[in-house]
Amino acid sequence: MQDRHEEIRRSYKQLGDIAGLYDGIITRSTLIGKLMDSVIWGLDEELAAKWVNEALSPIPEDFSGRLLEVPVGTGVITMPVFRTLEKAQITCLDYSADMMKNAERRAEILDIRNVSFVQGDVGKLPFEDESFDIVLSLNGFHAFPDKEAAYRETFRVLKKGGVFCGCFYVAGEFDRTDWFVRKLYVPKGFFTPPFETLSTLRQRLEKMYEKVNVHSVNAEGIFCCIK
Ligand SMILES: C[S@@+](CC[C@H](N)C(=O)[O-])C[C@H]1O[C@@H](n2cnc3c(N)ncnc32)[C@H](O)[C@@H]1O
Repeated sequence: MQDRHEEIRRSYKQLGDIAGLYDGIITRSTLIGKLMDSVIWGLDEELAAKWVNEALSPIPEDFSGRLLEVPVGTGVITMPVFRTLEKAQITCLDYSADMMKNAERRAEILDIRNVSFVQGDVGKLPFEDESFDIVLSLNGFHAFPDKEAAYRETFRVLKKGGVFCGCFYVAGEFDRTDWFVRKLYVPKGFFTPPFETLSTLRQRLEKMYEKVNVHSVNAEGIFCCIK
């Protein structure tokens, strides 16, 4: 476990030079990013590491099946992790080719060969039913415009017994974040309502999946479900 963390940390360091504003917030690697992460999300180093680790923890270290990540964005969180999953078959999808270009560049720099990139819509995934063992979704559902279609499609492509895991913003857990989401993120179009609360998310997932675990780190709702 310690080795994997060390390897992931080294990869982030190696990627440091292509971090933009978004990546700076996620990784707290820039002054403005650190400030925004603290002020908007109320996170310090420890809590920031906690939500990332907990959202990714359902992926076994020796995972060797098929994993779909949607949306991959710039790959800032996942490429260093994917580098450690040499036996997996990984597919990354995002609507934005521009965001995904950064993820592809990261995969190149880290010499990750078992990842493919597909531009597409989470509401209309171009994959067969039950074709993935894990569907990972980090910070996507608060941005997706058609959330019903996204829940339906991520479920459809997951195998029976497979894992759906990840995180996204949930309302009602951390007042300061709720305020910034209303006043900044929604008007700017970064986030699209309606938003789940922790309890609406739990209820929704329990209707769809066999086993569900939902909790939060400040306003990040973290979930892990088994189909
Ligand atoms: C906040 S970013 C999260 C990216 C990454 N998972 C992370 O945590 O850093 C949200 C991403 O959702 C993507 N997105 C928005 N609507 C989408 C859709 N309908 N289908 C696929 N991706 C979408 C955006 O292009 C953007 O890259």
